[in-house]
Amino acid sequence: MMFGKKHIKNAVGLDIGSHSIKAVEIKARNKHGQNIFELKSIGYEPLSYDAIVEGTIIDTTAVAETIKIVFDENKIKNKNVVISISGNSVIIKKISLPNMETEELAESIIWEAKHNIPYPYEETNVDYAILKQSDPEKEQNLDILLVAAKKDKIANYSNAVKQARRNLTAIDVDVFALLNSFEINYPENFKKKTVAIINIGSNLTNLVIIENGHPQLFRDLNIGGALFAENISKELNIGFDESEKLIKGIPVEQISQEKFQYVLDMNLQNILEEIKKTFLFFEAGEKMDRKIETVYISGGLSKLSNLSGHIEQKVGIKTEIFNPFRMIEYNESKFDNLYFEDMAALFGVATGLAVRSAVT
Ligand SMILES: Nc1ncnc2c1ncn2[C@@H]1O[C@H](COP(=O)(O)OP(=O)(O)OP(=O)(O)O)[C@@H](O)[C@H]1O
Ligand SMILES: [Mg+2]
Repeated sequence: MMFGKKHIKNAVGLDIGSHSIKAVEIKARNKHGQNIFELKSIGYEPLSYDAIVEGTIIDTTAVAETIKIVFDENKIKNKNVVISISGNSVIIKKISLPNMETEELAESIIWEAKHNIPYPYEETNVDYAILKQSDPEKEQNLDILLVAAKKDKIANYSNAVKQARRNLTAIDVDVFALLNSFEINYPENFKKKTVAIINIGSNLTNLVIIENGHPQLFRDLNIGGALFAENISKELNIGFDESEKLIKGIPVEQISQEKFQYVLDMNLQNILEEIKKTFLFFEAGEKMDRKIETVYISGGLSKLSNLSGHIEQKVGIKTEIFNPFRMIEYNESKFDNLYFEDMAALFGVATGLAVRSAVT
């Protein structure tokens, strides 16, 4: 899903998160008809907490400068980037249409967008992907993923990239990047299983459910580490930065682990409830016997101690940490193994962006 840009191969996947900016550069080569992916570069840099607020870049200069640091410090020479957006200003709808010619389809898409998207058509950029030709006998047999993004959101993010003097080649959507990342790293499970991927970041939690290679549900929940930190600050009467430390397992003076754990548990209950509700909604959906088999978690908050255990207990489904480098080769003399183990949780989106750019 690409919003109105010219595609350039091997662009750097740049994930502009509200807590940190991540970059991944990947090269693909073909071996016996199969794609082999190799990591070329990787970068991470935290962002000041008021630069992006509720998904809007407030301080474009801070974001642009941080992008530059990510590239400079990691010697990434490639200026072409692909970014992703998410949240309320991106709407994803699955629709079914009868079989038709391409031109006719383009018109139908506009009509469908005007009727399915809760924003004025003129204020959005619309794109679509054909999911599958379901049943040729059925009349409504084109399953289509309709995606609309608010133009102001696109401009907001494009401006920061422009100011950082990078060449923006495409704009994707977080959940699609996660999907791509999962497909190449867990190809068997992607094709044959029903799985959920939950990316818990700072401002947002992206959730996608895939059934036998087909995405079935996308959701962005307005929950994440920043909300946790705000609540903890209020409850314990400490600063935001101190709350962030506690979340990352760093002790803060005069705050006992018990006190912190109590407030953290309250916040966790909230996110666990939302996850459970989404799963129940999916499993009660159109088909019988839908059952999610495995949950994969990623994002900064997935590093919270025993989060997978909490999810397993709440929803009764096996939960693992998603490894976005599982099937990606890298030169061990150039990249540190420990870094990968520690940071893998943060790179689900950036890797997905880079992989897509490497193969299309
Ligand atoms: N070691 C850790 N343990 C627990 N939480 C952590 C750890 N490291 C980071 N986090 C939390 O993860 C969050 C950041 O995650 P992430 O980098 O995925 O977000 P982001 O992509 O920058 O934000 P978003 O996509 O929501 O705008 C922060 O709220 C931070 O507190
Ligand atoms: Mg993120």
